[in-house]
Amino acid sequence: MRVLVVGGGGREHAIVRALARSDAKPELLSTPGNAGICAEARCREAGSDVAAIVDAAATEGCDLVVVGPEAPLVEGLVDALEARGVPAFGPSAAAARLEGSKVHAKSLMAEAGVPTAGHAVLRTREEALEHLAHAPYPAVLKADGLAAGKGVIICSTEAEAREAVDAFFVERRFGATEVVLEEYLEGEELSLLALCDGENVLALAPAQDYKRIQDRDRGPNTGGMGSYSPVPGFDADRIEEIIDTVHRPIVELMRRRGTPFHGVLYAGLMLTPGGPKVLEFNCRFGDPETQAVLPRLKTDLLELCLAAREPGGLADARADFADAWAVTVVLASAGYPVSLSKGDVIRGLDRVPGDVEVTHAGTSRDASGAIVTAGGRVLNVTGLGPTPGAARAAAYGAAELIEFEGRQMRTDIAERAVERVAAA
Ligand code: AMP
Ligand code: GLY
Repeated sequence: MRVLVVGGGGREHAIVRALARSDAKPELLSTPGNAGICAEARCREAGSDVAAIVDAAATEGCDLVVVGPEAPLVEGLVDALEARGVPAFGPSAAAARLEGSKVHAKSLMAEAGVPTAGHAVLRTREEALEHLAHAPYPAVLKADGLAAGKGVIICSTEAEAREAVDAFFVERRFGATEVVLEEYLEGEELSLLALCDGENVLALAPAQDYKRIQDRDRGPNTGGMGSYSPVPGFDADRIEEIIDTVHRPIVELMRRRGTPFHGVLYAGLMLTPGGPKVLEFNCRFGDPETQAVLPRLKTDLLELCLAAREPGGLADARADFADAWAVTVVLASAGYPVSLSKGDVIRGLDRVPGDVEVTHAGTSRDASGAIVTAGGRVLNVTGLGPTPGAARAAAYGAAELIEFEGRQMRTDIAERAVERVAAA
């Protein structure tokens, strides 16, 4: 079996590792990969163009392509691969619109009766200003299209919202896009990812991620500064309840509409006093949730991916997870998330204990072969242990051994889980 993983972040490195554990002993390829992935899989530079990736996969005779990031999914990479006869794991472009358009996602949620924040669609600046005059504050404004996690602006006052409206409609910071005005929800967030085969939904372990750059959720949003799994209080019954109210109605509606969802359906949820409500749907594995979830997966990921391609293929599948806790700490480069630095030498990777999983995100090799920073989020350090405290100590113990210029790291990842488990 030859399997190509598309992408080059920590999520893709975790996917490569999980696939490598498969009984099928697949030969692993990646494009573009990063310094860590390319030490464990054969990397091929195929660029980000859909046609070029399809050519590379077909030339290599791949038996499966696993697509990590959302952009190629929304652009139709899976459709193009399957049309060339290359089996691919992930949703079609039509199904991936669930992430690619927030207006579309809201309309599917309304039709399927899935709980989410109340909203209005704003198509012009005038329409937006009219709505803002009557909206309750805080209010949330979101670009309709993909914005790499940056298209959400939370506004405390009407004045702030009017500024945001100018960023969307005058400055066109996120291109020519419609905007969703959304009710502000309060509570704790939960990421619940599930594998789907167009009909069935198989829950993966719950996770929480940390989006802000600084401790205690201060500073700007990032792609994610850490995660942990599982989440105290979310046993199998509670998870199934959420899957029944959120994932299954959407998957059933998409099947009926002729756009069945195959791949990972990721629900970003706010746990409100009135029950869980959907903040967003993603059509792929989460980053950095995957770095904490997949090391705990005992079931063969390759078998699950192959089964998810077939309509109804997951009917009898199970996804079993180790009892261990996993805590992932992200090491980011200086300036992130505003800017990113490149070329700083990373030291200490060889000192990390063997039972800690370091996955690479923004790394590359310089001319001398040294591993250097090459992006905002640089490395993910995942500690495993019998308690959240042990997993957290393992992650931070190892993270402290890794050094590079301007390294940024949150120090409070999974603190909440440690406290909850201690209190229970
Ligand atoms: P999204 O990309 O839609 O998940 O939004 C990014 C982040 O913005 C979420 O993880 C939340 O922290 C926050 N957010 C999004 N929508 C809302 C909302 N309706 N109420 C409160 N916070 C929100
Ligand atoms: N962890 C957030 C995301 O993957 O979108």
